[in-house]
Amino acid sequence: MDLEGWPGHIWLEGRTKVHLRDHQPRPTHMPRGPATKTGDGFLNPAMAPARTRSVMLLADAIEHGWLVDEGKTIRILDALCATAVRPRRWRREVPGQEVLKITANDLDEESVAWARKSHRTHPIGDGYIWQEEPCRFGQRSEGISEDGINWVVGDARKIMVTNPYQWIDLDPFGSPVDFLDSAIQSLSRVGVLDVTATDTAALCGSAKTSHDDAVRILLGTIARVAAMHDRYIRPLIALFDGHHVRLSVLVSRKKEIASKWSDNIGYRIRSKPYHFSKIPEGNFSGPMWTGPIFDTQIAGRMTVEKAIELCAGRPEDLPDDWSEHDIEHSKRELERTVRHISQSAQLLGGDHLLVGTDDLGIAAKVGQIPKMKLIFSQLEKAGFKAAQCQMPEPMFATDASWEDVLGVVRHLAE
Ligand SMILES: C[S@@+](CC[C@H](N)C(=O)[O-])C[C@H]1O[C@@H](n2cnc3c(N)ncnc32)[C@H](O)[C@@H]1O
Repeated sequence: MDLEGWPGHIWLEGRTKVHLRDHQPRPTHMPRGPATKTGDGFLNPAMAPARTRSVMLLADAIEHGWLVDEGKTIRILDALCATAVRPRRWRREVPGQEVLKITANDLDEESVAWARKSHRTHPIGDGYIWQEEPCRFGQRSEGISEDGINWVVGDARKIMVTNPYQWIDLDPFGSPVDFLDSAIQSLSRVGVLDVTATDTAALCGSAKTSHDDAVRILLGTIARVAAMHDRYIRPLIALFDGHHVRLSVLVSRKKEIASKWSDNIGYRIRSKPYHFSKIPEGNFSGPMWTGPIFDTQIAGRMTVEKAIELCAGRPEDLPDDWSEHDIEHSKRELERTVRHISQSAQLLGGDHLLVGTDDLGIAAKVGQIPKMKLIFSQLEKAGFKAAQCQMPEPMFATDASWEDVLGVVRHLAE
């Protein structure tokens, strides 16, 4: 296939060289915002943090053996891979490649051709090749295996219906809802489902907790679809990152637990500041997931040190035109990608109160809101936990009550 614009210009994402099209500006190191600002679906640099966390989660599953028994294969699919930056990063940056069978699929032939050419141009070179087995209905696989990645051009729903996976990534334009049913059916007895949703206007209201609502409403939808297939979900890391929701959930098959799926579903009732309830009343949003949104252990291991260890560019990875300045900035972006995750893992793995710092002035009737750090140390002195969350606005989670938080703010403002 003649690739218009090839080779474009080279950028390093994590440890992986990617080819941006010439019309795409050189990304800043901390790209944010919707795709239109920073690139199209072909390759959106603003999604780099989500891809980094995906590399880290997969590496954690292999290192800590929470998905398959040690040495067993993980069949992993990026169902809407575009130029396959994510699968190429899994292939380059995740240790323990011998257990991975990576498939990259997209409906757009040109994106997959660009992806394959990028992969061939920057090969892994460890000699690892694997061949796809015949699919569920006995047909030969349509994929092409090259340097450890199986490339497929086709509809995501088709590949998920015909092949089983232990890990599926869904990163569509807008809503992932159309793909959930086939993804959940495709997953093995235990599997990971990673989902991006960029249609957040439909999920978010205007309240301070609206980003948390967006996360929980989508989690609730996934829990319901999973239950229809006798599966239940356990959120591993669920967050709102700039302009999209990104959820990683463990999906397991057990009818008895799946039938109780609605135990974790309810409504957010907005009353000083909010609480969850089974029954909607007054000013509410939902239905939504009301259970934990992190796995404390797994999210707790998503540290800045681990991000740097796995994903920071090494001398042999750097593009020719990268300066010291680029290297330093890419490290800082890695830090930003996970900065608050491990610290908030314990609180978000259980019941907690989410507090928007900007709300505290009016609520506590103080002129100046104390610094978050001061609020934390005062809460800790009183025996509570508090941690900043990975959210676009300043928010923190705590196990203190709303009244306790206000008390601390008033005390500090005296
Ligand atoms: C937001 S982009 C994916 C970005 C990519 N995951 C990344 O990290 O760069 C969405 C992709 O979905 C593809 N797509 C849309 N509908 C599809 C379908 N039914 N099956 C497979 N791919 C589809 C588009 O061609 C597009 O490349």
